[in-house]
Amino acid sequence: MSQAEATQTDPTEPFDVPRHVAIIMDGNGRWAAARGLPRAEGHRRGVEALRKTVRAAGEMGIACLTIFSFSSENWSRPPSEIRDLMGLLRRFIRNDLAELHQSGVRVRVVGERSDLDPDIRKLLEEAEELTRDNDRLTLVVAFNYGARQEIARAANRIAAEVAAGRIASGVVTAELIAQHLDAPDIPDPDLIIRTSGEQRLSNFLLWQAAYSELVFVPIYWPEFDRAALESAIAEYRRRERRFGGLAAQTGS
Ligand code: IPE
Ligand code: IPE
Ligand code: MG
Repeated sequence: MSQAEATQTDPTEPFDVPRHVAIIMDGNGRWAAARGLPRAEGHRRGVEALRKTVRAAGEMGIACLTIFSFSSENWSRPPSEIRDLMGLLRRFIRNDLAELHQSGVRVRVVGERSDLDPDIRKLLEEAEELTRDNDRLTLVVAFNYGARQEIARAANRIAAEVAAGRIASGVVTAELIAQHLDAPDIPDPDLIIRTSGEQRLSNFLLWQAAYSELVFVPIYWPEFDRAALESAIAEYRRRERRFGGLAAQTGS
């Protein structure tokens, strides 16, 4: 086999993939209900799908993967479900952090941390600190995240700088707001995938999604795997991104 053929068939070889993929991991509860299982089991299986997806994203050469894990609005769920979800996050970080670190994953966290339990805050900080120099894949965990709240935080940061005299008033631009979001150095997502068949953003990355391609897949999150990720990326590749400009000329 020639070098070129070997490269083409190597499943771990990076190929033309979007730089930043963001996923709304939805449908754990319905996956469980369809099988007569408790919702907690759906969430547990959702973590398994997440592990597979992170591994696949790294192998495929995706630079950044953002996952929507818990929304600002998810506090309206029953306390027992919130406890299950917090417990899963704790276990995910405790059990998987070493492996993520070894495979070169950098963990970042976006969302409001001040109303999380102190032990969770500490785990999130430890994960960021341990992995800060990794550069194979950046895993952005959106936890206690809502996009409107993030934009409000950016506005407060800017207001504080205006009050301190570091920014003049009347000069707020879209770029300045982007620079004050929770992870300003992360590029906007090229592709946002939502599982479960729902077709909405549910307060996810509203600012950053301005020109993202949206792909809605009709499977529940626990069923998501590398093949599903590849097929969402194949759909993305069929789209034409125009960013307000004109379609590329195709002859004549
Ligand atoms: C996604 O699954 C996980 C979270 C939102 C935390 P859901 O729990 O929303 O599952 P469905 O949408 O009720 O099926
Ligand atoms: C979005 O899913 C939040 C996460 C996946 C973490 P939801 O299940 O909370 O969204 P809605 O309520 O159906 O819009
Ligand atoms: Mg849901």
